[in-house]
Amino acid sequence: MDFLIATHNMKKQAELQRILAPLGINVLTADMAGTELSDVEETGTTFEENAFLKANSGCKESGMVCVADDSGLMVDFLDGAPGVYSARFGGEHGNDKKNNEKLLSLLKDVPPEKRTARFVSCVCCCFPDGRHFTVRGECEGIIANEVHGNGGFGYDPLFLVGEKTFGELSAEEKDKLSHRGNALRKFVEEIKNYI
Ligand code: IMP
Repeated sequence: MDFLIATHNMKKQAELQRILAPLGINVLTADMAGTELSDVEETGTTFEENAFLKANSGCKESGMVCVADDSGLMVDFLDGAPGVYSARFGGEHGNDKKNNEKLLSLLKDVPPEKRTARFVSCVCCCFPDGRHFTVRGECEGIIANEVHGNGGFGYDPLFLVGEKTFGELSAEEKDKLSHRGNALRKFVEEIKNYI
């Protein structure tokens, strides 16, 4: 059974493929499926809404089962920001350095007990017959005072879980703890009710 994943990110495709292969599911990007998907504006105010917007649009356009995800960082001291704006927090979409600099400057002199945060990942799956489901994974941490480690991406070097930031963990170590790992483990359980 073929599933479309609404992303150009081959790492996300490979990750989902690895997880769904034992269920006999093939995960294809639009390129791999020989189709084209329009860019979807992420106009939602929640991760759930944005994941649905992307999965629903991909499903309607392709006629295939379509999976999409949306994720980001929520910092308590900033009332949940950057949230759905995580990728463009520093002003330029996907500029990790600027995003991290802005986060550090907004948390300057904020003590550790007030630097609590969580990563959130929502994964939505839409079926051509109109059924859909969404799973949500979270991971609690603390925003460090400075970057540590150069693994991972995005806010990983600032996100402390225990003694280490995500930037200091191997991919396998991060998967076991991460919001995305948690969401995908729930996804595997949920998808069994639909196929
Ligand atoms: P996307 O939903 O994968 O596009 O992620 C949105 C943004 O959230 C990314 O650009 C990162 O800034 C941030 N983000 C999401 N997941 C992670 C993660 O696992 N580590 C670090 N940053 C993340």
